[in-house]
Amino acid sequence: MKLSGQVAIVTGGASNIGKAVGWRLAREGAQVIIADINFAAAEKVAADITEAGFKALPHRVDVSSKKEVQDMIRKGEEELGRIDILANVAGILGPSAPVSEISEEDWDRVLAINLKGTFLCCQAAIDGMIKRGYGRIVNISSVSGKEGNPMLAPYVSSKAGVIAFTKSLGKEIAKTGVTVNCISPTMIEGELVKQMSESYFQSLLDKIPMGRLGKPEEVAGLLNYLVSDEAGFITGQCYDLSGGRSVY
Ligand SMILES: NC(=O)c1ccc[n+]([C@@H]2O[C@H](COP(=O)([O-])OP(=O)(O)OC[C@H]3O[C@@H](n4cnc5c(N)ncnc54)[C@H](O)[C@@H]3O)[C@@H](O)[C@H]2O)c1
Repeated sequence: MKLSGQVAIVTGGASNIGKAVGWRLAREGAQVIIADINFAAAEKVAADITEAGFKALPHRVDVSSKKEVQDMIRKGEEELGRIDILANVAGILGPSAPVSEISEEDWDRVLAINLKGTFLCCQAAIDGMIKRGYGRIVNISSVSGKEGNPMLAPYVSSKAGVIAFTKSLGKEIAKTGVTVNCISPTMIEGELVKQMSESYFQSLLDKIPMGRLGKPEEVAGLLNYLVSDEAGFITGQCYDLSGGRSVY
Protein backbone atom coordinates (compact mmCIF):
# COMPACT_ATOMS: atom_id res chain seq x y z
CA MET A 1 0.00 0.00 0.00
CA LYS A 2 2.69 2.46 -1.03
CA LEU A 3 0.19 5.07 -2.23
CA SER A 4 -1.87 5.08 0.93
CA GLY A 5 -3.37 8.53 1.63
CA GLN A 6 -2.80 9.75 -1.92
CA VAL A 7 -5.44 10.85 -4.42
CA ALA A 8 -5.15 9.87 -8.08
CA ILE A 9 -7.09 10.84 -11.19
CA VAL A 10 -7.08 8.39 -14.08
CA THR A 11 -8.58 9.77 -17.29
CA GLY A 12 -9.83 7.11 -19.67
CA GLY A 13 -10.21 5.02 -16.53
CA ALA A 14 -13.33 3.24 -17.73
CA SER A 15 -11.62 0.93 -20.22
CA ASN A 16 -8.67 -1.37 -20.86
CA ILE A 17 -5.39 0.41 -19.94
CA GLY A 18 -7.02 3.14 -17.83
CA LYS A 19 -9.06 0.53 -15.99
CA ALA A 20 -5.94 -1.51 -15.21
CA VAL A 21 -4.22 1.67 -14.00
CA GLY A 22 -7.19 2.54 -11.77
CA TRP A 23 -7.20 -0.91 -10.21
CA ARG A 24 -3.44 -0.90 -9.67
CA LEU A 25 -3.32 2.52 -8.02
CA ALA A 26 -6.31 1.61 -5.84
CA ARG A 27 -4.63 -1.65 -4.80
CA GLU A 28 -1.58 0.40 -3.83
CA GLY A 29 -3.78 2.39 -1.47
CA ALA A 30 -4.63 5.50 -3.48
CA GLN A 31 -8.12 6.96 -3.60
CA VAL A 32 -8.79 6.88 -7.34
CA ILE A 33 -11.07 9.07 -9.43
CA ILE A 34 -12.09 7.09 -12.49
CA ALA A 35 -12.62 9.92 -14.99
CA ASP A 36 -14.07 9.15 -18.39
CA ILE A 37 -16.45 10.50 -21.00
CA ASN A 38 -18.31 7.20 -20.66
CA PHE A 39 -19.80 7.75 -17.21
CA ALA A 40 -21.74 4.49 -17.04
CA ALA A 41 -18.54 2.50 -17.64
CA ALA A 42 -16.60 4.66 -15.17
CA GLU A 43 -19.30 4.04 -12.56
CA LYS A 44 -19.01 0.30 -13.08
CA VAL A 45 -15.20 0.31 -12.72
CA ALA A 46 -15.38 2.48 -9.59
CA ALA A 47 -18.10 0.27 -8.10
CA ASP A 48 -16.07 -2.90 -8.75
CA ILE A 49 -12.96 -1.36 -7.15
CA THR A 50 -14.99 -0.22 -4.14
CA GLU A 51 -16.63 -3.62 -3.80
CA ALA A 52 -13.17 -5.19 -3.66
CA GLY A 53 -12.41 -3.03 -0.62
CA PHE A 54 -10.44 -0.21 -2.24
CA LYS A 55 -11.30 3.45 -2.81
CA ALA A 56 -12.66 4.77 -6.11
CA LEU A 57 -15.13 7.36 -7.37
CA PRO A 58 -16.47 7.84 -10.90
CA HIS A 59 -16.39 11.18 -12.67
CA ARG A 60 -17.64 12.21 -16.10
CA VAL A 61 -15.24 14.36 -18.08
CA ASP A 62 -14.50 15.23 -21.67
CA VAL A 63 -10.76 15.90 -21.53
CA SER A 64 -10.95 18.15 -24.60
CA SER A 65 -13.10 20.65 -22.66
CA LYS A 66 -11.12 23.14 -20.58
CA LYS A 67 -14.11 23.85 -18.36
CA GLU A 68 -14.86 20.19 -17.67
CA VAL A 69 -11.21 19.46 -16.91
CA GLN A 70 -10.96 22.42 -14.54
CA ASP A 71 -14.18 21.33 -12.80
CA MET A 72 -12.79 17.81 -12.40
CA ILE A 73 -9.60 19.00 -10.73
CA ARG A 74 -11.45 21.53 -8.55
CA LYS A 75 -13.98 18.92 -7.43
CA GLY A 76 -11.21 16.43 -6.65
CA GLU A 77 -9.28 18.97 -4.60
CA GLU A 78 -12.36 20.23 -2.77
CA GLU A 79 -13.85 16.84 -1.98
CA LEU A 80 -10.70 14.78 -1.44
CA GLY A 81 -8.31 17.52 -0.37
CA ARG A 82 -5.59 17.05 -2.97
CA ILE A 83 -4.56 15.50 -6.26
CA ASP A 84 -1.20 13.74 -5.95
CA ILE A 85 -1.28 11.63 -9.10
CA LEU A 86 -2.59 12.33 -12.58
CA ALA A 87 -2.58 9.55 -15.17
CA ASN A 88 -3.60 10.86 -18.60
CA VAL A 89 -4.77 7.72 -20.34
CA ALA A 90 -7.86 8.93 -22.27
CA GLY A 91 -7.33 8.79 -26.00
CA ILE A 92 -8.86 7.87 -29.33
CA LEU A 93 -7.38 6.28 -32.44
CA GLY A 94 -9.26 8.43 -34.93
CA PRO A 95 -9.50 7.69 -38.64
CA SER A 96 -7.36 5.10 -40.34
CA ALA A 97 -6.90 6.73 -43.77
CA PRO A 98 -4.29 8.26 -46.06
CA VAL A 99 -3.39 11.87 -45.30
CA SER A 100 -5.09 13.03 -48.50
CA GLU A 101 -8.44 11.77 -47.16
CA ILE A 102 -8.30 13.02 -43.58
CA SER A 103 -10.82 15.75 -42.85
CA GLU A 104 -9.94 18.85 -40.89
CA GLU A 105 -12.64 17.88 -38.35
CA ASP A 106 -11.11 14.45 -37.76
CA TRP A 107 -7.64 15.93 -37.42
CA ASP A 108 -8.89 18.49 -34.88
CA ARG A 109 -10.87 15.89 -32.91
CA VAL A 110 -7.93 13.52 -32.47
CA LEU A 111 -5.54 16.32 -31.53
CA ALA A 112 -8.15 17.85 -29.19
CA ILE A 113 -8.60 14.66 -27.16
CA ASN A 114 -5.12 13.13 -27.27
CA LEU A 115 -2.85 16.18 -27.15
CA LYS A 116 -4.92 19.16 -25.99
CA GLY A 117 -6.65 16.91 -23.44
CA THR A 118 -3.29 15.95 -21.96
CA PHE A 119 -2.23 19.60 -21.88
CA LEU A 120 -5.51 20.74 -20.25
CA CYS A 121 -5.38 18.06 -17.54
CA CYS A 122 -1.74 18.81 -16.73
CA GLN A 123 -2.35 22.56 -16.74
CA ALA A 124 -5.30 22.25 -14.36
CA ALA A 125 -3.55 19.85 -11.98
CA ILE A 126 -0.08 21.36 -11.61
CA ASP A 127 -1.05 24.51 -9.68
CA GLY A 128 -2.22 22.53 -6.65
CA MET A 129 0.62 20.02 -6.97
CA ILE A 130 3.23 22.79 -7.09
CA LYS A 131 1.66 24.54 -4.08
CA ARG A 132 1.86 21.29 -2.13
CA GLY A 133 5.38 20.60 -3.43
CA TYR A 134 4.51 17.11 -4.65
CA GLY A 135 2.94 15.53 -7.69
CA ARG A 136 3.30 12.68 -10.14
CA ILE A 137 2.00 12.94 -13.70
CA VAL A 138 2.17 10.19 -16.30
CA ASN A 139 0.91 10.69 -19.85
CA ILE A 140 0.25 7.81 -22.22
CA SER A 141 1.83 8.23 -25.62
CA SER A 142 2.49 5.40 -28.09
CA VAL A 143 5.48 3.80 -29.74
CA SER A 144 3.92 5.01 -33.00
CA GLY A 145 4.57 8.58 -31.85
CA LYS A 146 8.29 7.85 -32.12
CA GLU A 147 8.26 5.67 -35.24
CA GLY A 148 5.48 7.10 -37.37
CA ASN A 149 2.78 4.90 -38.88
CA PRO A 150 1.12 5.01 -42.29
CA MET A 151 -2.66 5.63 -42.35
CA LEU A 152 -2.74 6.99 -38.82
CA ALA A 153 -1.24 10.46 -39.15
CA PRO A 154 -3.53 12.33 -36.71
CA TYR A 155 -3.12 9.72 -33.96
CA VAL A 156 0.63 9.38 -34.44
CA SER A 157 1.12 13.16 -34.56
CA SER A 158 -0.88 13.59 -31.37
CA LYS A 159 1.18 10.93 -29.61
CA ALA A 160 4.47 12.50 -30.78
CA GLY A 161 3.11 15.75 -29.35
CA VAL A 162 2.43 14.05 -26.02
CA ILE A 163 6.11 13.03 -25.80
CA ALA A 164 7.34 16.55 -26.62
CA PHE A 165 4.85 18.12 -24.22
CA THR A 166 5.90 15.75 -21.44
CA LYS A 167 9.56 16.62 -21.91
CA SER A 168 8.81 20.34 -21.98
CA LEU A 169 6.60 20.38 -18.89
CA GLY A 170 8.90 18.00 -17.01
CA LYS A 171 11.83 20.36 -17.50
CA GLU A 172 9.72 23.46 -16.87
CA ILE A 173 8.60 22.38 -13.39
CA ALA A 174 11.56 20.16 -12.51
CA LYS A 175 12.35 22.03 -9.29
CA THR A 176 8.84 21.92 -7.85
CA GLY A 177 8.56 18.34 -6.57
CA VAL A 178 6.22 17.48 -9.44
CA THR A 179 7.46 14.93 -11.97
CA VAL A 180 6.04 14.51 -15.47
CA ASN A 181 6.79 11.42 -17.53
CA CYS A 182 5.20 9.43 -20.29
CA ILE A 183 4.91 5.83 -21.40
CA SER A 184 4.97 4.78 -25.04
CA PRO A 185 3.44 1.30 -25.35
CA THR A 186 3.35 -0.84 -28.45
CA MET A 187 0.14 -2.80 -29.10
CA ILE A 188 -1.65 -3.72 -25.90
CA GLU A 189 -4.30 -6.42 -25.59
CA GLY A 190 -7.82 -5.01 -25.86
CA GLU A 191 -10.84 -4.43 -28.07
CA LEU A 192 -8.86 -2.65 -30.78
CA VAL A 193 -6.82 -5.72 -31.57
CA LYS A 194 -9.92 -7.88 -31.87
CA GLN A 195 -11.17 -5.69 -34.73
CA MET A 196 -8.02 -6.19 -36.84
CA SER A 197 -7.69 -8.57 -39.75
CA GLU A 198 -5.49 -11.61 -39.16
CA SER A 199 -2.81 -10.38 -41.58
CA TYR A 200 -2.65 -6.85 -40.14
CA PHE A 201 -2.48 -8.25 -36.63
CA GLN A 202 0.36 -10.59 -37.66
CA SER A 203 2.30 -7.73 -39.28
CA LEU A 204 2.14 -5.82 -35.99
CA LEU A 205 3.17 -8.85 -33.99
CA ASP A 206 6.16 -9.41 -36.27
CA LYS A 207 7.56 -6.04 -35.18
CA ILE A 208 7.67 -7.07 -31.52
CA PRO A 209 10.75 -9.19 -30.65
CA MET A 210 8.96 -10.85 -27.73
CA GLY A 211 6.31 -12.04 -30.20
CA ARG A 212 3.35 -11.04 -28.08
CA LEU A 213 1.21 -8.03 -27.22
CA GLY A 214 1.59 -6.13 -24.00
CA LYS A 215 -0.98 -6.43 -21.23
CA PRO A 216 -2.85 -3.46 -19.70
CA GLU A 217 -1.51 -4.60 -16.32
CA GLU A 218 2.04 -4.19 -17.63
CA VAL A 219 1.34 -0.56 -18.50
CA ALA A 220 -0.16 -0.13 -15.04
CA GLY A 221 2.94 -1.70 -13.47
CA LEU A 222 5.32 0.77 -15.11
CA LEU A 223 2.99 3.66 -14.38
CA ASN A 224 2.78 2.58 -10.76
CA TYR A 225 6.56 2.81 -10.49
CA LEU A 226 6.66 6.25 -12.12
CA VAL A 227 4.08 7.65 -9.67
CA SER A 228 5.83 6.17 -6.66
CA ASP A 229 8.01 8.04 -4.23
CA GLU A 230 10.96 5.97 -5.47
CA ALA A 231 10.82 7.61 -8.91
CA GLY A 232 11.55 11.06 -7.48
CA PHE A 233 14.62 11.72 -9.68
CA ILE A 234 12.84 10.88 -12.94
CA THR A 235 11.13 13.62 -14.93
CA GLY A 236 10.62 14.61 -18.56
CA GLN A 237 11.24 11.04 -19.70
CA CYS A 238 9.50 8.72 -22.12
CA TYR A 239 9.53 5.05 -21.15
CA ASP A 240 9.01 2.44 -23.85
CA LEU A 241 6.89 -0.60 -23.17
CA SER A 242 7.34 -2.52 -26.35
CA GLY A 243 8.58 -6.08 -25.87
CA GLY A 244 11.92 -5.05 -27.34
CA ARG A 245 10.48 -3.21 -30.37
CA SER A 246 11.71 0.33 -29.68
CA VAL A 247 15.35 1.00 -30.45
CA TYR A 248 15.60 4.58 -29.21
N1 LIG B 1 -4.29 -0.24 -26.81
C1 LIG B 1 -3.11 -0.07 -27.34
O1 LIG B 1 -2.57 -0.94 -28.02
C2 LIG B 1 -2.37 1.22 -27.10
C3 LIG B 1 -1.04 1.32 -27.53
C4 LIG B 1 -0.36 2.52 -27.34
C5 LIG B 1 -1.00 3.57 -26.70
N2 LIG B 1 -2.29 3.44 -26.30
C6 LIG B 1 -2.93 4.58 -25.65
O2 LIG B 1 -3.37 4.19 -24.37
C7 LIG B 1 -4.57 4.88 -24.04
C8 LIG B 1 -5.66 3.91 -23.65
O3 LIG B 1 -5.83 2.95 -24.68
P1 LIG B 1 -6.90 1.79 -24.54
O4 LIG B 1 -6.49 0.69 -25.40
O5 LIG B 1 -7.17 1.52 -23.10
O6 LIG B 1 -8.15 2.51 -25.22
P2 LIG B 1 -9.71 2.36 -24.91
O7 LIG B 1 -10.42 2.87 -26.12
O8 LIG B 1 -10.03 1.00 -24.43
O9 LIG B 1 -9.94 3.39 -23.68
C9 LIG B 1 -9.88 4.77 -23.87
C10 LIG B 1 -10.80 5.42 -22.85
O10 LIG B 1 -10.76 6.84 -23.05
C11 LIG B 1 -12.07 7.34 -22.96
N3 LIG B 1 -12.18 8.59 -23.69
C12 LIG B 1 -12.21 8.76 -25.04
N4 LIG B 1 -12.37 10.06 -25.33
C13 LIG B 1 -12.44 10.72 -24.15
C14 LIG B 1 -12.60 12.09 -23.80
N5 LIG B 1 -12.76 13.03 -24.74
N6 LIG B 1 -12.62 12.42 -22.49
C15 LIG B 1 -12.49 11.47 -21.54
N7 LIG B 1 -12.35 10.16 -21.81
C16 LIG B 1 -12.32 9.79 -23.10
C17 LIG B 1 -12.95 6.24 -23.54
O11 LIG B 1 -14.29 6.37 -23.15
C18 LIG B 1 -12.27 5.00 -23.01
O12 LIG B 1 -12.80 4.62 -21.77
C19 LIG B 1 -4.91 5.75 -25.25
O13 LIG B 1 -4.40 7.05 -25.05
C20 LIG B 1 -4.18 5.06 -26.37
O14 LIG B 1 -3.87 5.93 -27.42
C21 LIG B 1 -2.99 2.30 -26.50
